[in-house]
Amino acid sequence: MRHDTSVILKRFFFIEQSLIISQAGWLAGIEPIEVKTTLPRLIWQDAKTADDMRTRVFELRYPSRLMEIGEETALMNLVHEARNAPNALALYRSLLEVFKPALRKAYQDYLELADEIGDGPSIRFMRLAVQEKDEQIRLLADMLPPMEAATPQAKGAADAWVQALRQHQSDIGGIGLEPAETESDTTFELPGRVPFALAQIPARDHRFREVRYYWPDVIDPSFPYGDGLRLQLRSAISHLNEVWAVETGGALLHAFADDLEWEFVLDAARWTYDEARHCTMGLERLRQWGFDLSELPLGTYIYDSAYGQDPIYRLGMLYYFETKNIKRKPERIRSFVSYADEVSQHDMDFDWADETIHAAYGHHWLAALLKKRGFDDPDPHLIRARCEALVRATVDRATDAERQEIREIAEHLITRAEQRAADKHK
Ligand SMILES: [Fe+2]
Ligand SMILES: [Fe+2]
Repeated sequence: MRHDTSVILKRFFFIEQSLIISQAGWLAGIEPIEVKTTLPRLIWQDAKTADDMRTRVFELRYPSRLMEIGEETALMNLVHEARNAPNALALYRSLLEVFKPALRKAYQDYLELADEIGDGPSIRFMRLAVQEKDEQIRLLADMLPPMEAATPQAKGAADAWVQALRQHQSDIGGIGLEPAETESDTTFELPGRVPFALAQIPARDHRFREVRYYWPDVIDPSFPYGDGLRLQLRSAISHLNEVWAVETGGALLHAFADDLEWEFVLDAARWTYDEARHCTMGLERLRQWGFDLSELPLGTYIYDSAYGQDPIYRLGMLYYFETKNIKRKPERIRSFVSYADEVSQHDMDFDWADETIHAAYGHHWLAALLKKRGFDDPDPHLIRARCEALVRATVDRATDAERQEIREIAEHLITRAEQRAADKHK
């Protein structure tokens, strides 16, 4: 019936939303690069599905625009508990082994009961959701070995966590079409829980060259940005190093989901996914050139600059620093065309389109947040000035040893790229 359908879809929406927020918050705490850049795609898919569900609930309950957890508090308490996982592996495995399969089955059950004439609009997004959950489960299973290898010591706590989660899930009757079979105010405390806190020091993939500053020009004005091959390389390294933007997008989504509500979560999910694609563009490009991960610098300085700060400055950094080069990008694209470098041109072209969307997100949500905090006529430039000061302070802390190290890394990469270009022309 119409009412039951809306109750079920509302339940699914709240579960997806909670898991999106948990995963986003954890991105900075995840080491393997493939996981850090793939989870944002899954988060974005789930956000699109959740958005369709939410719209459908409003349609079914028209004219009511209320979305309340209501009777589902116990179930939601269990789902929210995911973010308090003792380590990244436990969070990851709760997705792979509990939540994703449960949701996949629930959506499949829904499809089996739904009728095309009555509920056709839901059937379309539910079919897609089942298909995406299948793909997600496969991807998560494929990436489990690098996740486990990154932190072998996490396994014991993750085992206990997932086992308890599975048990509680089954005790309340599972995540499905029926409401939870327990008192609605039941709370859950899983073994080894650690109340969630954003990783202020990002977990990074140790297969890379781990540095603070990822190219010499960040801390050494005498080092040229370059043109030709150097520009191609610099551009790919910049894209790879948008890893900070992935972590920051996730951090924001988590930090402001309650204050700014669903529309923000949806935008932040897309924003984070886009940054993950930019990071992957750089990585794939550098791999195609034959570089090994151990040669590639992965820096932390922008993420570090917001250490312990109010997350509004992380929002400021993502907004200002990621979009500040928009105007220069068409010129870069022309350079790549003149080098007949179609891959760099393609990457920069799509990157430019994404950053234009991000500028709108940043402008809108920073203003909304300042307003929410009681500034009637906010001046976002104050946030920008503080962000710039924070980053400048981190740049000023660079040591001579770091300058030396990154110069060696860069020169090695430039030499290798030049050799490769020369070999190609032989
Ligand atoms: Fe980006
Ligand atoms: Fe961006």
